[in-house]
Amino acid sequence: MAVAFTNPSIETCTSLTKPFRPSLSSKNPITLKRFSVSSSLSSSALQMEEQQRENGPVVLQRPDCFGRFGKFGGKYVPETLMYALSELESAFQSLANDVEFQKELDGILKDYVGRESPLYFAERLTEHYKRPNGEGPLIYLKREDLNHTGAHKINNAIAQALLAKRLGKKRIIAETGAGQHGVATATVCARFGLDCIIYMGAQDMERQALNVFRMRLLGAEVRAVHSGTATLKDATSEAIRDWVTNVESTHYILGSVAGPHPYPMMVREFHAVIGKETRKQALEKWGGKPDVLVACVGGGSNAMGLFHEFVENKDVRLIGVEAAGFGLDSGKHAATLSKGEVGVLHGAMSYLLQDEDGQVIEPHSISAGLDYPGVGPEHSFLKDIGRAEYYSVTDEEALGGILFTFNLSSSVQLTQIAFKRLSRLEGIIPALETSHALAYLETLCPTLPDGTRVVVNCSGRGDKDVQTAIKYLQV
Ligand SMILES: Cc1ncc(COP(=O)(O)O)c(C=O)c1O
Repeated sequence: MAVAFTNPSIETCTSLTKPFRPSLSSKNPITLKRFSVSSSLSSSALQMEEQQRENGPVVLQRPDCFGRFGKFGGKYVPETLMYALSELESAFQSLANDVEFQKELDGILKDYVGRESPLYFAERLTEHYKRPNGEGPLIYLKREDLNHTGAHKINNAIAQALLAKRLGKKRIIAETGAGQHGVATATVCARFGLDCIIYMGAQDMERQALNVFRMRLLGAEVRAVHSGTATLKDATSEAIRDWVTNVESTHYILGSVAGPHPYPMMVREFHAVIGKETRKQALEKWGGKPDVLVACVGGGSNAMGLFHEFVENKDVRLIGVEAAGFGLDSGKHAATLSKGEVGVLHGAMSYLLQDEDGQVIEPHSISAGLDYPGVGPEHSFLKDIGRAEYYSVTDEEALGGILFTFNLSSSVQLTQIAFKRLSRLEGIIPALETSHALAYLETLCPTLPDGTRVVVNCSGRGDKDVQTAIKYLQV
């Protein structure tokens, strides 16, 4: 399936403020996709409503010419990176209509990644959530876990590696938390003959040891980061430091819809294939759209990849599930959209876990891929305008979604119900990140009318998490 781009161009820019002109102009301006705002309103949306009264219907680009989603996003970076970001944006825009690039990308996604990924009807999981009267939702899994390297991350890594080649950059850096983005990046670097350096928190290296080995086997250098909590935030900071120093020779394959513009837009577009396929497959399978989409949210790339295609279909509910760690009131969680305040991290304005002085609060999640104090700016925007809903799930509930039995005495009842679900009911061991989305079904399903079609993004497979899970298991 062709990967279509929907990013703004200078010609079509309708920013509420003055237009931004990238230093390198695009040869191939592309059509802007517009988004009508009419959902529940926050302050930025209220501003738009006011404009609408004055000027007629307001359409909003996502992002606008400044790389902003409402007040979120932007480019809060040192001067040294501004040129590289403009260069990247221009390259991305010019590739949007580049037939050769599209052909190459489509071919690799098909023959190397294994797309399209199936939309699988989870019959026994559906049965599990039936109410005593036989009614309940129908649950489908979008099987990104079946992609080469075992997660959605490769969609973006492949496309950015091709972009780097076009930019003539042979040195690739990336950050990783769960190691899935690191493995995806190491894989594409091996495939295209690029030098690869992966920054990873020392704690994450321990809990995702299997992926560290995979990256090294693929020829990447894995650099341990010991600062802070030695997790994803710290790895990202270190990768940005490297990029500032080596920007001439290096492309930074950022692994989520986070960071400075154009990354949130670009990474979203490279993952939008997930939602596009889902629409097509839903049409083939039941002749309609899904009613509810559910995905876990760390930085937010798998969720945005699934949601993007449906943002304008207001009859499709979009649900993101964050990591509540030890609980929302424990102070040890990664539920940025539920508990954060607006701030700036890693080059973008978004919701952020921070204290009263604006210092970043160290997050916690059992899942390395969700253990991040920030979130992609578009999610903050979708939350504020009320288009997407965000909830959270604890470590314990998420583990319940993944494997066997385990010994956490405080809520044995809960885990007895929740644990083993996907593994035992469907023969699919999900990643701990994905397990957060799956665990939310416990809360969601009893509230849904009979026959509601729910698509859960099965963002990755759980092989990498067995080491972590074993610590909690009693088998
Ligand atoms: C399998 C899987 N799912 C989800 C995530 C979370 O990232 P994102 O929110 O960008 O999809 C990760 C991150 O490493 C992951 O490995």
